[in-house]
Amino acid sequence: MSLSFEDLPIRDDLRGMIPYGAPQAPLPVALNVNENTHPVPDEVAGDILDAIARALRDINRYPDREFTALRESFAGYLGEGLQREQIWAANGSNEVLQHILQAFGGPGRTAFGFAPTYSMYPLLTRATGAAWVAGTREPDHSLSAESAAAQVAEADPDVIFLCAPNNPTGTPLPLEVVTAVYEASRGIVIVDEAYQEFAPRDSPSAVTLLPGRERLVVSRTMSKAFAFAGARVGYLAADPAFIDALRLVRLPYHLSALTQAAATAALAHASTMLRMVDDIVGQRDRISATLEALGYRPYESWSNFVLFGGVEDPSETWRRLYSRGVLIRDVGIPHHLRVTAGTEAETTAFLDALASIDSEA
Ligand SMILES: Cc1ncc(COP(=O)(O)O)c(C=O)c1O
Repeated sequence: MSLSFEDLPIRDDLRGMIPYGAPQAPLPVALNVNENTHPVPDEVAGDILDAIARALRDINRYPDREFTALRESFAGYLGEGLQREQIWAANGSNEVLQHILQAFGGPGRTAFGFAPTYSMYPLLTRATGAAWVAGTREPDHSLSAESAAAQVAEADPDVIFLCAPNNPTGTPLPLEVVTAVYEASRGIVIVDEAYQEFAPRDSPSAVTLLPGRERLVVSRTMSKAFAFAGARVGYLAADPAFIDALRLVRLPYHLSALTQAAATAALAHASTMLRMVDDIVGQRDRISATLEALGYRPYESWSNFVLFGGVEDPSETWRRLYSRGVLIRDVGIPHHLRVTAGTEAETTAFLDALASIDSEA
């Protein structure tokens, strides 16, 4: 029999854990990890390539450890008078979240989130040696300010995750929940806005709540709306003192010169990079309407994906879609599946495949 990691002298608290493992199958229609299925627009790709080529000439040197130009660009993109001292970035928002947990989690501490929520929160938490505590939501996955504040006060965590809109449910999170949780807590409050660009244009970001709240952090990613998942760039906005704490735990030069160059060039074209957002939102709403017509129960979504209930046997439906070349996500919620909004053609392929499975049943 081959060796398992459990046979090695691994940390006791890592035993029994399962690594993140969304399938990466080479299917024609991949709608399982909430990527932006539209490629980077050609007119921006040229500028990104030029920036990478320039960075390559100095690649014998370590990169700017403070990624100054990139932080400046993120501050400009987020607006709200933010300064670059309030910005942090890393290789995907997963690493941004990991930095927060390394600085504010760790052994003897707890992190808290309202289940079901992003599956990496407990993994990242436990990997730093902290304990994960899960709170609950209403049956429609929403969260009231009163309930959220009461649960947080009871758990008294060191780090709190508020996913807005929430993955895997798509549920919006009103800002009054953020302020109520902040007031009921003493720990770090992270609002994870990975999907914020897909929310209605007039819905305010938690970035507007930052002034005067030194324990509040808003994290974002270029992986979703910016169609930049493969580049691995996430970022956050917070008080400058919070950023100072993150410098203690990051690896020196953690953001490569090529990553910094590519992301800064892409941000210079933010509106072009984001131009597929409206299209994706349109496909998302089409998915919800069609799922409803097919007799499923889609949940309200402010993101680029839809969670739907009413699935008799999720693993069987998942398998049948797979055999038709369509990859979606079984997130482990009984009778539910999650699908990412793709291009019009991909979305049609998913909806047609699902309808054909239903007509077989
Ligand atoms: C809620 C949420 N936060 C963070 C991430 C991590 O994204 P990335 O590391 O690509 O920035 C994801 C990815 O799916 C997500 O759904």
